[in-house]
Amino acid sequence: MTLPVVVAAAAVLLYLAYRFLYGTDTPHIKGLPEVPGLPLFGSLFELGTNHAKVAQGWAEKYGPVFQVRLGNRRIVFANTFSSVRHLWITSQSALISRPTLHTFHTLVSSSQGYTIGTSPWDPSCKARRRAAATALNRPAVQSYMPLIDLESTVSIKELLSDSKNGELDLDPRAYWQRIEGDKEDGLLKEITEVERGVSNLRTELKSIGLTMVSAGLDTVPGNLIMGIAYLACGPSGPSIQARALAEINKAYPDGDAWTGCLTEEKIPYVTALVKEILRFWTVIPICLPRVSVRDIEWEGVVIPAGTTFYMNAYAADYDPTHFSDPHLFNPDRYLADTAGTPHYAYGAGSRMCVGSHLANRELYTAFVRLICAFEFVPPKNPR
Ligand code: HEM
Repeated sequence: MTLPVVVAAAAVLLYLAYRFLYGTDTPHIKGLPEVPGLPLFGSLFELGTNHAKVAQGWAEKYGPVFQVRLGNRRIVFANTFSSVRHLWITSQSALISRPTLHTFHTLVSSSQGYTIGTSPWDPSCKARRRAAATALNRPAVQSYMPLIDLESTVSIKELLSDSKNGELDLDPRAYWQRIEGDKEDGLLKEITEVERGVSNLRTELKSIGLTMVSAGLDTVPGNLIMGIAYLACGPSGPSIQARALAEINKAYPDGDAWTGCLTEEKIPYVTALVKEILRFWTVIPICLPRVSVRDIEWEGVVIPAGTTFYMNAYAADYDPTHFSDPHLFNPDRYLADTAGTPHYAYGAGSRMCVGSHLANRELYTAFVRLICAFEFVPPKNPR
């Protein structure tokens, strides 16, 4: 073998080794800060278990929008309120798709099919999203209020009787899953059985059904439980409860808030309380991932179509340049200024949560009724 051939072979091998150790699904984005990572794994280990906090820390070092290698995937992370607004809202038509992930789409969901929230943008996803949006718009949600009435009444009655009229400490977690569907419930079982039968013929129906059952299963109860926990044990919990009760009584001097909250939302303080709960706990801290379908510009850098984006909704909802004193639980912040996106708990833009109106109505109704029915206090026996 001549020397030039050896050099060429070595160069090819080196290139292949580099590609193997540092290659990603999409190429490095010129001009965008990058978190340095290990060969092969990138920053996967550094990401640890609290992804949102770690990414927030990276943003302090590398700026609000950066790229990072996670295994063989290149991800663009946005971590501030205004960068999310630019990428997710201003550029919403370009940021409309979702990635296909090997573990999730090929292994976990292969038997059940995709939900709307995990589908890439195509005519089928567009049709399913439109159908879900129609089933979840204002008039449709209003027609579900009798169900919310029934479920919240039953939950509150159970809380009252199981706590022996407030004598016993109670873990509220078990009481709220029913709002989104108790797995043992006969009606829900029938719905899922019928759905399974029909879905053998119609995969789109199956996807919509799966979405509806799964989307609110943890999210609404998560907010209810954390909200109750704050009212019971948070530093300003007692004063916020007292203020909310006073505002409820002011809006409904005849004591008919229990039924009034089913048809109208006229207690701005409770609406603000719900928004602050959603912001403070941002229960999906790293929003469902997106993929761009067109180039997007960020501060002079062109991020090419096909890039995967992660919204660090937690970091954006605790962005001190947007929220004054973000670590303070303070519903008042939403009383003064009600314009614009209040928080990113529901994501934002073209693939924002379709169920946000239903979830808001559920949370508002539940908190009006809970605050009318109970005074939440810390447990006598904190375990
Ligand atoms: C407090 C309760 C909820 C929270 C915090 C929440 C949060 C979210 C978030 C963060 C996304 C991703 C949005 C994005 O990419 O920008 C999402 C998507 C979605 N949510 Fe919700 N959600 C809630 C309740 C619900 C409910 C009750 C339903 C329906 C019954 C629902 C249906 C959906 C659907 C269909 C999507 C996918 C939208 C798409 O990909 O086009 N959500 N939700």
